[in-house]
Formats: sequence, C-alpha cells, structure tokens
Amino acid sequence: MNTAPLQGIKVVDFTEVQSGPSCTQMLAWLGADVIKIERPGVGDATRKELQFDPNLPSYYYLQLNSDKKSLTLNAKTEAGKEILTKLIKEADIFVENLHPGAMDKLGFSWEAVHQINPKCIYGTIKGFPLSSKYKDLKAYEPIAQVTAAAASTTGWYEGADNIPTQSGAALGDSNTGMHLLIGLLAALCQREKTGEGSYVYQSMHNACLNLCRIKTRDQLTLDKIGYLTQFPQYPNGKFGDCVPRSGNIEGGGVLGWTYKCKPAGGYDSETDANNFVYIVLQRGAKDFELFCNAVGFQDWLTNPDFATADARDRNKNAIYQRIGAWTADKTKFEVTDILGKAGVPVAPVLSTKEVMTDESLYDGNTLVKINQGGQIGEFVTVGCPFTISNYQPSYGPAPALGENTEEVLKGLGYTDAQIAEFANTGVTQPLKK
Ligand SMILES: CC(C)(COP(=O)(O)OP(=O)(O)OC[C@H]1O[C@@H](n2cnc3c(N)ncnc32)[C@H](O)[C@@H]1OP(=O)(O)O)[C@@H](O)C(=O)NCCC(=O)NCCS
Repeated sequence: MNTAPLQGIKVVDFTEVQSGPSCTQMLAWLGADVIKIERPGVGDATRKELQFDPNLPSYYYLQLNSDKKSLTLNAKTEAGKEILTKLIKEADIFVENLHPGAMDKLGFSWEAVHQINPKCIYGTIKGFPLSSKYKDLKAYEPIAQVTAAAASTTGWYEGADNIPTQSGAALGDSNTGMHLLIGLLAALCQREKTGEGSYVYQSMHNACLNLCRIKTRDQLTLDKIGYLTQFPQYPNGKFGDCVPRSGNIEGGGVLGWTYKCKPAGGYDSETDANNFVYIVLQRGAKDFELFCNAVGFQDWLTNPDFATADARDRNKNAIYQRIGAWTADKTKFEVTDILGKAGVPVAPVLSTKEVMTDESLYDGNTLVKINQGGQIGEFVTVGCPFTISNYQPSYGPAPALGENTEEVLKGLGYTDAQIAEFANTGVTQPLKK
C-alpha cells in the first residue's frame, strides 16, 4: 500500500515557468526524486512573478514546484557543466523547456545527454513541432492558443466582441506539461523493454491542437456542406470558410447554452458576473421529454418545431429564449436542483472563488492545502487530477532557491571544500542558513 509509482526514478528538471514545471510537478507527486536546476541568484522566473509579497515567492511558483529539490547551478560554467553531467549519469529523466537552441548552446542537447547516459529519457518542450515554420519562436500560453486555432474558435461569433479570444484554461502551458508527462511515462515503459532512453519532444502547439481536435471535425464538415448545425447561425445565418467562434454552444451534437439566472446571494451576486447556469438538451426523445416535463414545456413534445432533435437545431434561438425566461426568476442552484433531479445535464456556472471554497473538494486530491511553513504557511493548490487506488501523494512544500544545493552536491560525491569553492566562484549559490 502507498508504493509511489515513480519511486526510485531520478529526474533532472531543467524547466521553468509553467509548461515544464507542471510536468515535473506530477513526476514529483508520483514519487520521483525531482532536482530542479535554477540559475544562481535568479531561479525560476515565476518565483518573482505576480508575488503577493515582494519578499516571498509567488503562489505561481509555489503551486508548480511542490516536493522538488532546488539546486542552483550556473550551467554556463565549466564546473557547472561537470556537475550537470554527473547528475545526468544518475538520471532516469532529463526535462527542459528553454528557448529553441538554448540547450544545444549549453552542450546538453538530446544527442549529448544520450551519449552521457544512454538510459536517460530526454523530455523537451518547445512552442512548435520541428516541422513548423514557427519552430524557432519563443512561446508562451497565448502563442500556442492563437496558432493552434483555439483562439479563432473561442469567444463571441457576432457584434463588437467578435474577436479571437483566449481560454482561461492553460491549454498551452499546463496542458503541454500533462501531454509531455504522458510521453515520459510511455518512454519509461518502453525503456523496460529496450533498456534505452528515448527523446520525447512535445510542442505547446501540438498539445493545444490536440484539444482542438473537434474543431478540425467542424472544418471538415463545413468544407463539405457549408454549414454547421450546432451553431446559432444555422439555418438562417451566414457561414464563412472557417469554423466560427463558438460562443457558449456545447460543440458536439447536443444543444447546450448558458442561461442567465437571478442572483444567488453568494460571491459575484452584486456584479452578476456568474449568475448563470448551463443546460444541455440531449437529442434522444426520452431525454427531451424529461426536460419538458421538468420545466412544464409539454407543448414542445407535440410541436413539430421542437419535437425532434433536427427541428430543435433549426429553432435553437427560440429555445434559448424560452428557457432563458424560465431560468430568469430562479437561482443557478435552484435550476440545477430542479433539472438535476429530473435527469437533465445541468450545472451552475461557478467562479474560482466558489470552487475554492467548496469544502467537498478538499478530499485529499482535488484541492489540497500545502503547508509551506515560514511566513507563507498554508496555501491551496489543485492536487494530482487523478487518483490511484493504492497510492496517495503527500503534497510537501516547494523549495527555497538553492535549498538543496549542498545535499545534492554531497550526494554526487563532492567534498565540503569543493562545495564551498563552487559557492565562492558563483557556480552555485546555496541557500544561506
Ligand atoms: C519561456 C521562454 C519564452 C523564455 O525564454 P527566455 O527568456 O529566453 O528564457 P530561457 O530560460 O529560455 O533562457 C534564457 C537564458 O538562460 C540560460 N539559462 C537558463 N537556466 C540556466 C542555468 N541553470 N545556467 C545557465 N544558464 C541558464 C539559457 O541557457 C538562456 O541563455 P541564452 O539566452 O544565452 O541561450 C522560452 O524558454 C521558450 O520559448 N521555451 C519553450 C516553450 C515554453 O515552455 N514556454 C513556456 C510556457 S509556460
């Protein structure tokens, strides 16, 4: 019981910001020994990004680096390269997400690392696939979203707000980290068979595009027939050549929409920002009957404009209007209660605050409280998103910059004198105790 899946796996973590650290965060939570390499005196850029106190590491850093060790190391110095080489000799996985070409310049490309330790798996994150004309661009979240057709299909499809829009979800950053994680875990299984480490290349573009798969389905359909039945523009509006922005449609074959409700009296009630509910009308006759009976719209069951799923697709705007009038005098929770009990897919639109204050989500994994200690104390983060029946991550604190430098160097066999020399010459910068 509670044997960590990655117990004994050593990871050299040359990542920073969000995409790479989100991947190595999962490796650490699955029990790997993750050594995070950070520039002396600088560290991961997120340490000082969006801080709540100028003297403390940001939640951004804390939430992505729990249970890792921090080794400050200047990999541009000869001694730094020697230390890194020793670490790689013992590593199972090396992960990096520096800008294109940076690792080659440092002398730790896939080929170089493979030569140092043929068993070591090499994970890399870049903005684009190597075949792309954009492969040399540096990349952040929006770069991935705008180039993977995510932004062009997100947002409002008409009026002044008809502009490419980013998702609030980190499709380019954390999503890429999770995609790389899949590749690394597959490479670990593969190594069991071949005895050799492999190169796992994950672009933010491909991770984002993978989540836009159904948009390519829509483009194929649009190219064939010139319209898309699930969009509000169908049947009377105009479609262009490209998949439109989807507003709040469900996106698949079923009819879904966001409906305004009366304030529920909790967070956001005054600004009215999230007094909404999402309701899905399934295509099946039985399911539609459940909905009509729950809201008292039995007339729709015999009305040819609404009785069939195809008819409802054609008359979706009238449907949105009538359901909107029904939800307007109820709170999002009342609507969820009525329709949920009737077996209709429904849910309240929840704010980040509402999610984070839902005590039922503090189940040991969904939302977790990490005790960082010191001036920071306890903070909340999203835990490991899946559970494993016989393993529970422990969710420890994130390291201070250089906190584990001496411990890691000692583990590599360096003497106290050598360790002091590295610190004196700026190769490392151990945390001052
Ligand atoms: C995120 C990104 C845009 C930042 O670019 P950047 O500001 O140039 O920062 P980088 O960390 O890549 O590199 C900066 C320099 O620090 C150096 N560096 C980083 N860690 C170092 C270390 N421990 N020792 C010595 N040098 C180090 C790099 O070698 C690089 O030097 P160079 O410019 O001479 O080549 C870029 O890394 C990138 O595109 N990464 C791939 C995609 C990605 O993961 N994006 C982040 C999404 S959250």
